Amino acid sequence: MRTKIIAGNWKMNKTLEEAKALTAELISMASEIKGDAKMVLCVPFPYLLSTKDQLGKSRIQVGAQNCSEQDSGAYTGEVSALMIKSIGIPYVILGHSERRQFFKEDGKLLAIKVDKALGNDLTPIFCCGEPLEIREKGTHEVLVRKQVEESLFHLSAESVKKVVIAYEPVWAIGTGKTASSQQAQDMHAVIRKQLAAKYGDGVAQQIPILYGGSVKPDNAKELFSCPDVDGGLVGGASLKAKDFIDIVKGA
Ligand code: 13P
Repeated sequence: MRTKIIAGNWKMNKTLEEAKALTAELISMASEIKGDAKMVLCVPFPYLLSTKDQLGKSRIQVGAQNCSEQDSGAYTGEVSALMIKSIGIPYVILGHSERRQFFKEDGKLLAIKVDKALGNDLTPIFCCGEPLEIREKGTHEVLVRKQVEESLFHLSAESVKKVVIAYEPVWAIGTGKTASSQQAQDMHAVIRKQLAAKYGDGVAQQIPILYGGSVKPDNAKELFSCPDVDGGLVGGASLKAKDFIDIVKGA
């Protein structure tokens, strides 16, 4: 059975002081959590190290929200996978729809970023998902399959097993409009079937597929009980300790 993963994506929110206060609350609340769900906080770059240090031996782990496709050099403002690795951070979100939309990241670029992450022993949380107009046209499965193929299918079976996939329908992000558990399960099953066709069912069954898009304490349990939904990538609700912990409890 796949271990559930609940990852918070703080996006570009919180000052250092606020980040420390939220982390402190999460540490104390996480101690009441039973079960083996993994918890990850994907925090802004300036807080990676302090958050990791603050978490200490807590069961919560830390992730970055992006990395460069370059190794090093004259790329002002960029952060490499090696830098993230060098401060002991295990996860990195790649291909979030906000990066695809606002920073024009495409499948080819993301394939390189995935390689950089894996090459530095980071676990990529690779995001895919369709915008509203594609869902309305009914071609969402085609698009998501293309996103997965373009950025992951160059990987060996051994490497792809180290990736976490997050399906995040763009129309559900920050809108309060969650995909129904059936819509989430249907897409997750499509992705798993696609992985099985390429890598075999044994590999496909090992890859966690998270759902993201307005995950809240009151819908988490139903979403996470779907057979192919292995946890969540949580935006807004991860900025409130109680909401995030209640979501983890839903797993
Ligand atoms: P919300 O949970 O705020 O909808 O954001 C989802 C998301 O983008 C997580 O990466």
